[in-house]
Amino acid sequence: MDRNLAMEFVRVTEAAALSCARLMGRGDERAADQAATEAMRRVLASVQINGTIVIGEGERDEAPMLYIGEKVGTGSGSELDLAVDPLEGTTILATGGPNALAVIASAPKGNLFHAPDIYMEKIAVGPKAKGAVDITKPPAWNLKQIADSLGMYIEDLTVVILNRPRHENLIKEVRKAGARIRLIGDGDVSAAIATCREDADVDVLMGIGGAPEGVIAAAALQCFGGDFQAVFKPRNERETERMQKMGIRDHLKVYKIEELASENCLFAATGVTTGDFLEGVRYFKGGARTHSVVMRQESRTVRYIQATHCFDFKPIY
Ligand code: FBP
Repeated sequence: MDRNLAMEFVRVTEAAALSCARLMGRGDERAADQAATEAMRRVLASVQINGTIVIGEGERDEAPMLYIGEKVGTGSGSELDLAVDPLEGTTILATGGPNALAVIASAPKGNLFHAPDIYMEKIAVGPKAKGAVDITKPPAWNLKQIADSLGMYIEDLTVVILNRPRHENLIKEVRKAGARIRLIGDGDVSAAIATCREDADVDVLMGIGGAPEGVIAAAALQCFGGDFQAVFKPRNERETERMQKMGIRDHLKVYKIEELASENCLFAATGVTTGDFLEGVRYFKGGARTHSVVMRQESRTVRYIQATHCFDFKPIY
């Protein structure tokens, strides 16, 4: 893959972040998501790729833009699959909370899993615990494995879990095993990434969240050398049918990281609201500042990009 695309993709996530960050705390999730999606699509159109959205804003009949199967880019250049989330954490932005991101992941055609928009159970760890986890085993077993890999006590591990009633048992089991827990309101992509960052006090992400976010997180973790496993969790007949329609027949199948995001992944994100990982958009007279990250699986390079945007000299998003 053309490595210069990394910078192009940062422009894409910057545009999405700049467009929706103005709506921080306004309580309007729909408007924020729409602003981010429109901007992302506009900038993607100018990128020299022959891209196809495999994870996007939904099925063609329910999403007007960045829908699954939509062709994006100029049509010339590398043939890429794209997983996008113009605003990961719509509720976060609507309430002005931490860790809302604009994200894009890409890989050469056929290297990103086409996941339905349903739930999946996930476990994510950083490079030091790669190969140590097994999502089919109980939390206590996984925590022991992670603790051994990191040379730590289970009591010193931090587990991130989405704060949802469906995680009542998981939380009980993690507490019983003795590990520390950080409950988050939303945003499990940034929590999965945190497991790979030495400066973040997060050792593992566990629990059920969105499958599209799972594929995006898997691409990001491939760039860091982390690990990720998932099992789809349809909640009803309709979701089971949706899964089957997309070719997933075995409900219990464990998806390993390389089945979700395999080769030559590229991941870019821009902070919308300030979080553990990236700073949010800061506006000032005539412009704004953004903070982004871009990573490539092939080289494992992780670049942070701080940009100053002058609205007199570029489109006002
Ligand atoms: P959105 O940006 O689509 O709102 O997703 C936020 C998120 O918290 C994801 O990070 C997570 O995977 C999913 O929602 C969890 O779903 P739910 O809110 O239904 O529990």
